Amino acid sequence: MDEIKLGIIGVGNIGSSIANGLLWSGFKGRIILCDKHPEKVENFHSDFVEVVSEAALATGKSDVIILAVKPHAVKDAIAEIGSSIKGKLLISLAAGITLGELEGLAKGARICRVMPNVNCKVLEGAMAYAISGTITETDHQAIREIFGRLGTLIKVKENQIDIITAACASSPAYVFLIIQKLKEILEENGIDSDSAQKLAAQAVAGSGKMVLESELTPPELINVVKTKGGKTEAGLKILEKRNFAAVLEEAIKAADKRAKELKIGLQNLQK
Ligand SMILES: NC(=O)c1ccc[n+]([C@@H]2O[C@H](COP(=O)([O-])OP(=O)(O)OC[C@H]3O[C@@H](n4cnc5c(N)ncnc54)[C@H](OP(=O)(O)O)[C@@H]3O)[C@@H](O)[C@H]2O)c1
Repeated sequence: MDEIKLGIIGVGNIGSSIANGLLWSGFKGRIILCDKHPEKVENFHSDFVEVVSEAALATGKSDVIILAVKPHAVKDAIAEIGSSIKGKLLISLAAGITLGELEGLAKGARICRVMPNVNCKVLEGAMAYAISGTITETDHQAIREIFGRLGTLIKVKENQIDIITAACASSPAYVFLIIQKLKEILEENGIDSDSAQKLAAQAVAGSGKMVLESELTPPELINVVKTKGGKTEAGLKILEKRNFAAVLEEAIKAADKRAKELKIGLQNLQK
């Protein structure tokens, strides 16, 4: 496919992760960045990156636009973009704003929703996308070319995006919490902070890689680690007694519930 001209409107946590990930991946398309805060785009020094000050300018220079602003800012951002969106592929990352709502706001655009996570910065994102009926095969190729570089990308039905948001977009935060606790325990036992962080992060990263690359399921891998009457089994018993799995499920359901509450708030905001 031709070189993609990709506009990213909103270069905060996720917009910058995507831009950095793409540059790191060797993406050769053109990236046009726009954020209300110039300091968020000033560190992008690359021949492939251009910075513009207005959303409409970014859209005018792009074939594909990633809208990476907070959900409450989507309506205004699309209004700023104006008619320059017509005939282009608009990819919204906003939680809770449906394809139908986006089509109503961005008239004449072909719409896709992608739910990424911050790990796309290091090309290890867990991402899903849902498309509207107007998406073409070329759009599909562009979506895969952009987000496929940033990790694992799967296509889902739109009504599955909410649970992907709760389980995959929020979960890096829960995993970072686990890593921090492992790190602290190592530090308390005299391991220096740097080594403790590396060991804790690698224990988690390696476990993910084992699931991805071995033939075994997570329960089977648990059995590989634990021996009957051994130390891992003693630890697992505590996690079972304290209902660790149920706590995790509760956290994910709380995130999902909150996303739904925010969606209602958003619909009221847009009336
Ligand atoms: N963070 C995540 O891990 C994650 C994961 C999956 C999906 N998402 C989705 O990604 C979106 C962005 O999240 P985020 O955490 O990256 O937010 P963020 O850090 O607040 O970044 C958004 C940036 O866009 C700027 N902005 C807002 N309106 C703009 C406009 N019209 N033109 C140019 N820049 C504009 C914001 O400025 P102001 O602060 O002044 O508004 C801010 O700098 C959200 O819709 C969220 O649901 C986030």
